[in-house]
Amino acid sequence: MSKAYEDRIRNAALRSRVVSAAEASELIEDGMVVGMSGFTRSGEAKAVPLALAERAKTIPIKITLMTGASLGNDLDKILAEAHVTARRIPFQSDPGLRRLINAGEVMFIDQHLSETVEQLRTHQLPLPDIAVVEAVAITRDGGIIPSTSVGNSASFAILAKKVIVEININQPLGLEGLHDIYIPTYRPNRMPIPIVAPDSRVGLPYIPIPPEKIAAIVVTEKADSTATINPPDDDTRAIAGHLIDFLKHEVTKGYLDDRLNPLQAGIGTIANAVLHGLIDSPFHDLKMYSEVLQDSTFDLMDAGKMTFASGSSITLSAQKYVDVLSRLGEFKSRLILRPQEISNHPEVVRRLGLIAINTALEFDIYGNVNSTHTTGTNMMNGIGGSGDFARNAYLSIFVTKSIAKGGAISSVVPMVSHVDHTEHDVDILVTEVGLADLRGLAPRERAPLIIRNCVHPAYRPALMDYFTRAKAMGGHTPHVLEEALSWHIRLRDTGRMA
Ligand code: COA
Repeated sequence: MSKAYEDRIRNAALRSRVVSAAEASELIEDGMVVGMSGFTRSGEAKAVPLALAERAKTIPIKITLMTGASLGNDLDKILAEAHVTARRIPFQSDPGLRRLINAGEVMFIDQHLSETVEQLRTHQLPLPDIAVVEAVAITRDGGIIPSTSVGNSASFAILAKKVIVEININQPLGLEGLHDIYIPTYRPNRMPIPIVAPDSRVGLPYIPIPPEKIAAIVVTEKADSTATINPPDDDTRAIAGHLIDFLKHEVTKGYLDDRLNPLQAGIGTIANAVLHGLIDSPFHDLKMYSEVLQDSTFDLMDAGKMTFASGSSITLSAQKYVDVLSRLGEFKSRLILRPQEISNHPEVVRRLGLIAINTALEFDIYGNVNSTHTTGTNMMNGIGGSGDFARNAYLSIFVTKSIAKGGAISSVVPMVSHVDHTEHDVDILVTEVGLADLRGLAPRERAPLIIRNCVHPAYRPALMDYFTRAKAMGGHTPHVLEEALSWHIRLRDTGRMA
């Protein structure tokens, strides 16, 4: 056992449990429920799932795979295409897995990310037989120090019968101390979660489990996948501009101060562009209470604009990954990684009064948002944390470009083909065309505002015509039911909405 491993596996008795990934994977049997670490392509168990896919070439193994969110290193694709993944909970973003979900081969349970472990704890979902968790080290008492994400790892390890720990020696030990593991007590007598600010530390810096539960330890060295974030373009810059102007206006009116409320931003190009836009804004001393910390979080810190960020994972581009991991000492006092049920907890989101910025695939003229299904049928990624935040935020903002697929699709439609966020959960809609502030407006007031401010000019007359005819038919939320989904039907049949 080298000195490096002693630093990483501090409980001497556990060092004898180091085995190969192939040996550890044999603990996973056909039909098991497996809880793996991994959140937005960070901190996932890397070696055991690969060994499992390899084993499945000779003997059929099907599992229910639970994670925090999406996995990196193509693991969701590899496991799905090896027919290992029979059921998948609660999020994914892999084209290969998505294909099998949409073919009906993999059963996907698309869940609010804060809810999975809550349902496990109360046996509404089957408990994991085994947890596989990436860690930077194991403490003397058997505590697991996670790596670049926490996700659902803590509850998986606590609730599973056995735990496999993947010690990733390339994840820096400097990550130790970043995590804050707080597990809520059981309901109905639960105490309030004592987080009163993004920087509240309320838990332990490791996942507490009895060392005897650790059935195997695998030493790995593969890096996290890095994020591919498209640079801001004219449209995403325009979206960021509209949103920042709106926030400035809120400050002028005295509703927010120029430190704003804590920010949550979904992953992806638009959210990243909006956060980047804050670098040149008058706002300062910003804080994040979000689930994924991406490049823009660290750029805002480096620009002296952001003082603290709380999340459940760090997901970065290749260049930023090297930069941030080499400067962890500098960032450590300004970062916390929490379990996703805490980063996304409705109680905390409501208490802190978040400004939540998430991305829509499409929204309708009344403000209902679809973030998950194309043409109402095919799963894209899943609702992720967007619902946890949208329903409970101080300001629930959805952004999207006004058109997709070169203009074949309007992102604003008469009626969304699938609803993830109802009109009751949506305050502000933004496209590159402009911004619609829906607060305090009835459906009949919302529609003309959305059509005027958010719809691409190529689709605006048709949508206004629809609304005019719908209004004539009456109702609180007027629709021409025969036509409400006609834009999607036309897209299905002709490849274009108009
Ligand atoms: N109908 C059909 N397809 C559409 C569409 C629509 N209305 N709008 C966009 N698309 C397509 C795009 O053309 C693109 O296709 P491609 O992959 O073939 O290029 C794809 O959907 C993704 O769109 P893009 O504009 O690149 O957006 P994105 O990468 O920012 O992702 C979501 C947008 C909605 C899919 C993504 O934000 C998501 O999964 N959200 C749900 C989870 C979430 O919000 N989590 C928040 C906390 S992290």
